[in-house]
This record gives sequence, C-alpha cells and structure tokens, in this order.
Amino acid sequence: MTDSTKLHLGVILTGAGGPGHPKTWLDDDLPLDSSVDVDWYIEYARLAERAKFDLVFIVDSQFITPDSPPHYLNRLEPLTLLSALAVTTSHIGLVGTATTSYNDPYNLARRFASLDLISRGRAGWNVVTSGDAGTAGNYGRDEHYDYDTRYGRARESVEVIRGLWDSYEDDAFPRDRASGVFLDPSKQHRLDHRGEHFSVVGPLNIERSPQGQPVVFQAGDSEQGRDLGATIGEGIFTHASSLEQARAFRDDIRSRAVEKGRDPDSVKILPGISVYLGDTDADARRIEREYQAIEYDFDRAVKELGRPFGWHDFSQYDADAAFPDVRAVAALSFKTQADRITETALSEGLTLRQVVERVSAPRPGVFVGSSETVADLLVEWFEGGGTDGYNLHVDHPSQFRRFVAEVVPLLQERGVFRRDYESTTLRGNLGIPVPRNRYSGALVDA
Ligand SMILES: Cc1cc2nc3c(=O)[nH]c(=O)nc-3n(C[C@H](O)[C@H](O)[C@H](O)COP(=O)(O)O)c2cc1C
Repeated sequence: MTDSTKLHLGVILTGAGGPGHPKTWLDDDLPLDSSVDVDWYIEYARLAERAKFDLVFIVDSQFITPDSPPHYLNRLEPLTLLSALAVTTSHIGLVGTATTSYNDPYNLARRFASLDLISRGRAGWNVVTSGDAGTAGNYGRDEHYDYDTRYGRARESVEVIRGLWDSYEDDAFPRDRASGVFLDPSKQHRLDHRGEHFSVVGPLNIERSPQGQPVVFQAGDSEQGRDLGATIGEGIFTHASSLEQARAFRDDIRSRAVEKGRDPDSVKILPGISVYLGDTDADARRIEREYQAIEYDFDRAVKELGRPFGWHDFSQYDADAAFPDVRAVAALSFKTQADRITETALSEGLTLRQVVERVSAPRPGVFVGSSETVADLLVEWFEGGGTDGYNLHVDHPSQFRRFVAEVVPLLQERGVFRRDYESTTLRGNLGIPVPRNRYSGALVDA
C-alpha cells in the first residue's frame, strides 16, 4: 500500500523531439525514425523498467502543421504503441493520453480496459480535452468545444467510463465446463446512463483487470482543469519551475481533493522535468548550454509561440512592436497558458521579441548538475512537499541512460526510491487502492 516516503518516477518518450525541441533529432544518439520505431520505445521502456520506474507516458495530439515539433509530425498512436510495450515489459505502468473531446466514452473504456488486460493491470489513461483547437477540423466540427463543454464532456466521460469498467463483477464468469455455465448474468450490469453529453446503455464487453480499473491521470491548469483533476485524477501531470511553485500547485490540488471528500495521498502529482547531468555541476551546465544552443532559433520559436494560441501566426507582426492582444484567438486552445503569456506581456509592456525570448530562449534549468547535485534536488523537492515524484523527459537518450546508471542508485541509497517493484500492477506500485466495483466488493490493496 501507499508508502509516502518513496517517490515515483515516470519517463516521457517523445522520440524525435516534442515542444521546445525542434532540433533534438540532430543528436546522432537518437535514431532518425525513433518516433515511429516500436523497437526504440521497447528499448527505453525496458531500460526504465530495469531501473524500477513506475510508468512510461505517451503524450498525444491530433492536429499538426508543418511547424509542429518533429515528434508530433510523425508518431505512433498511444494505445497501439502501449499494447506493444505491454507484451515486451512486465512491471512498468503504461500511460497514454486520450482526449474526451473527440472520443466517445464507450470506445475509450473498451480500449483502455483492453490495454489493462493485455498488460495484466498496468494501464493508465491521461484524460485531456485537446489543447489544439484545430483538432476539430479532423472530426467534422467547425470549431473546438468551449472550455465549459470541454471540461463537462471530460467529467461526464470519466464518470461513464468508470461505470462501464464496472460492468462485470469480479466473479461474473464461472466458466464452468461441468455445469455449462459461462456467465452469471446477475453479475453483469447495464449502465443506462443519460447525461448532458452522452447516453450510454452498456454493459461494456470486457471484464476488470487485476488492478480493477486503469489509473486515471489528468493534466490541465485552468480553474476547470484543476477542479477536474482534484475530482477524478489519481495522478496529475504538470510543470513546475521552482519548489515554491510546485508546492503551491500540489497544496492546491490536495486541498481541492480533501474538499471533495478524497484522500489526498491517493492523488499523485508528477511534474515533467528535464535533467542534464555532467561530471561536475559546471560540466552539466556546459552540456545544457550546448544542447540549448542547438535547439534555439528565434524564427522557429515565433512559430511555436502560436501553438497555445491555436497556431496563431505571430510572424505577421513586427517583432519589435508591442505584443498584440490576441487572447481571443486562444479561447478554444491552450487558454490558460496563452492568457498567462499575454497578461505578462501587456502588464510589463513587452515586445513580441521579448515575449518569445521569455518563453523560449535558453535559460538555466533546475535539475542540472552532477549526479549528486541532481539527486539532492530531487530529494529536496520531494521531502519539501513539492511533488510525489517526477516524469522525466527523454530528450537526449544518453542523458537518460546516465540518469538510470548514476542518479537512480543514489535515490535508492537515500531510501526515497524502490529497489524492486512492490507489485505487478500500476496501482500497486503507485500505492493507489483498487476501486471497489460499485455493485460488489470492498476496497482492497493492489
Ligand atoms: C503537463 C500537461 C500535459 C498535457 N498533455 C497533453 C497531451 O498529451 N495532449 C493534449 O491534447 N493535451 C495535453 N495537455 C493539455 C490539456 O489537456 C489542456 O487542453 C490544456 O492544458 C488546456 O487546458 P487548461 O487551460 O485547463 O490547462 C497537457 C497539459 C499539461 C499541463
């Protein structure tokens, strides 16, 4: 069960380079086709599993332009990919992003339940509402849903999906050849849901896995996003640039969870971080600067700035004129991020160039140094109440290999990270209870 003295580790595999990493693919340690090569994912999932990581996380989106990050341009669909990882790994959790804006609850419930059975209880679902407004055009809509509808659909989807995941009680299938009884029909349950966004009769045509239900993760930072996370999230993905900021976010989510009658320890908060390691702190800073110098290109950064604003074209403006007030175009996109950028720009009177530099220009990161320095920082944030663990971006694979070889043993020596898996399920390793089947059963430990 929950051991809150141990931190949790996830690994984010974004092949040829995600947002902010337009040139990572130039690293010859990264196969050119890593985003679509299943063997590359298997290799790094297995490496993370040997290091006893809790989970592999596959992000997703479904709208691209020629300016999208290299990994986004050409990549594998998360659940298909995670099914391949399920049969080539044995303990590591398998978490994929799927949007409630462009999926029906029944097919999401079915796909994640299947992954959960294929992996024997290691599936996790990162519930998103799709930040890219352009996704609407790929699903027959003129425009993306407004925020209230996005989050309303997300909340109702999770409620319906959890209902569908309980379609069968754990002993619904006697499968008794002697008596010829395959199913006990009294243990199969229709949902008969009629809500604001969905009508779903059920039941779902698949049984529960060893962890009962896939683990539900959430990532969203608006008022609605945080409220949803505190209501339904068992794991929360976020970003944080200082211990104070991380602690404020975690405190906020935990107190919201308490208000909703939940145990805050069953909501695990995992900020995404980038780590640069060197032989000394100075060496690590040099490595960081070298990688960042390759990545940064002002014209490219102007284009990427458009993404939170629904891929608004900022190259049409004079870079040295005042930042344009384009909040309206972000209303259906990554609104929270876009509003934050615009409000800072307007209140400080910044030009477009200054905004681009603030958002994208190279600056020293937090988790950079020798292995000892980085281990100290990871422990400091964890013990300082800033986080329940970390989600590591694998930008440069050699850096991840070094993290596994040098930092993980230090975390183990310091007693804050496991030496072996506690369980074969994701819930068991995260220390999150198996949810009771609403028609039977009691809460049990994974
Ligand atoms: C850490 C983090 C990870 C996210 N991952 C994804 C993702 O993989 N795919 C996606 O479409 N949106 C992703 N989102 C976007 C959210 O689902 C949401 O659309 C966006 O954050 C805007 O909502 P907000 O204003 O509530 O933050 C992510 C957001 C955060 C904060």
